[in-house]
Amino acid sequence: EVFTQLKQIQQKGLDELQTVRDEASLQAWRTAHLGRSSAVMQVFSGLGGLDKELRPQVGQQANLVKQALEGAFAERESAVKTAALQQSLASEKLDVSLPGRRRPQGRLHPATQALNEICQVFVEMGFQIYRSPEVETDVLNFELLNIPAHHPARDMWDTFHTTTPGILLRTHTSPGQIRLMREAAPAPIRAILPGMCYRYEQTDASHESQFNQIELLAVGKGITFGDLKGTLDEFAVRMFGEGVRTRLRPSYFPFTEPSAELDVQCFLCMGKGCNVCKGTGWLELGGCGMVHPVVLQNGGYDPEVYSGFAAGLGPERVAMMRYRIEDIRSFWANDLRFLEQF
Ligand code: DAH
Repeated sequence: EVFTQLKQIQQKGLDELQTVRDEASLQAWRTAHLGRSSAVMQVFSGLGGLDKELRPQVGQQANLVKQALEGAFAERESAVKTAALQQSLASEKLDVSLPGRRRPQGRLHPATQALNEICQVFVEMGFQIYRSPEVETDVLNFELLNIPAHHPARDMWDTFHTTTPGILLRTHTSPGQIRLMREAAPAPIRAILPGMCYRYEQTDASHESQFNQIELLAVGKGITFGDLKGTLDEFAVRMFGEGVRTRLRPSYFPFTEPSAELDVQCFLCMGKGCNVCKGTGWLELGGCGMVHPVVLQNGGYDPEVYSGFAAGLGPERVAMMRYRIEDIRSFWANDLRFLEQF
C-alpha cells in the first residue's frame, strides 16, 4: 500500500511539474513536493511506525521517488530559466550595430546668416563694426537726423514709443550715425552699424514690425558721391558676383543730400526680368546718399571741412531674394519648418 502511495506521489509531482512555466510556480512546486511537509517527506518521517522488515525497502523506495522528483525539478528549472532568457533576449533586443541617434543641431537664423555675410564683405573692405542700442531717444532717432518733431517726413517711420516720453524703439539704424560721429570726431570714419529695427506698421508679406538693417557710414575729408557709388558697386560684386550692376535712383531722406535708392541687378535673371525681380530686372536693397551738412554738424564734424556718405541696407531683403522667400513675416514667426531649411 505504501508502495502504491509512493508511486502516486511521484506521478502527481511529475504531472504537476509539467504545468510549471515560471520561476514563481517552480518554487511553489518545490515547497509542495519536496518541502518539509510534502508527501515524500512525510513517508520518511512515518518510517518509524512501519514494520522493521518493511522500513529499508520503503525507505529505499522513498529515496528513489525523492531523487526522481529532484532530478525532474532540476531539469525543469533549467528549462524555465532558458525560456526566460530567450524571452528577454527577444523582447529587449539591442542592435549594437545600429548607428547612434543624431542630436538635433542648431544653426544660425537665415536673417543672421545674411547679416553676417554682408558684414563680412564690408569688413574685408576696411569697414569697422559699430553697435548701437535698439532702444533710442527721439532726439537721436529723429531730431539729430534732421527730422524735427511734427515734420511730415516722420510719416516715413511709424514708431513704437515707450511709456517714457522721448524713448522709443529705433525705427532704423541711422541714429547710430550720430552716436558714432560724436565718439569719433574729428577722426575719419569707415563703419557699418548692423542691428534690429522696429516699426509700428500694419504687417503684410513685405512689411514686418521688426527687421535688421545695416547702416553704412563713411566720414572724412574729400569724400564724394563717387566714393559712395564705388563702394556700393564693389559690395554688390563681392556679394552677388562678378559683373553684377547697380543703379542709383534719386530719392529723398532728411539725413542725406542728395539721396538715392540703391538697386542691384537681379542676380537670378541678370537683368532680363523674372518673377523674383517682378519683371524689372532690378532688386531694391536700401537707401543711401551724402550725409546732410546738418547731420555732420550734429555729429561734431564741420561740414565745410568734412563730407561723408551713408546707406541703409536690408539683410532680410537679401535673404528673401536669394532664397525666394515670399513672406517677410516668415523670419520672425519662429516656425521650425521654415527655419530648418537654411
Ligand atoms: N534709415 C533709412 C530707413 O530706414 C535708410 C537709409 C537711407 C539709411 C539713406 C541711410 C541713408 O544711411 O543714407 O528708411
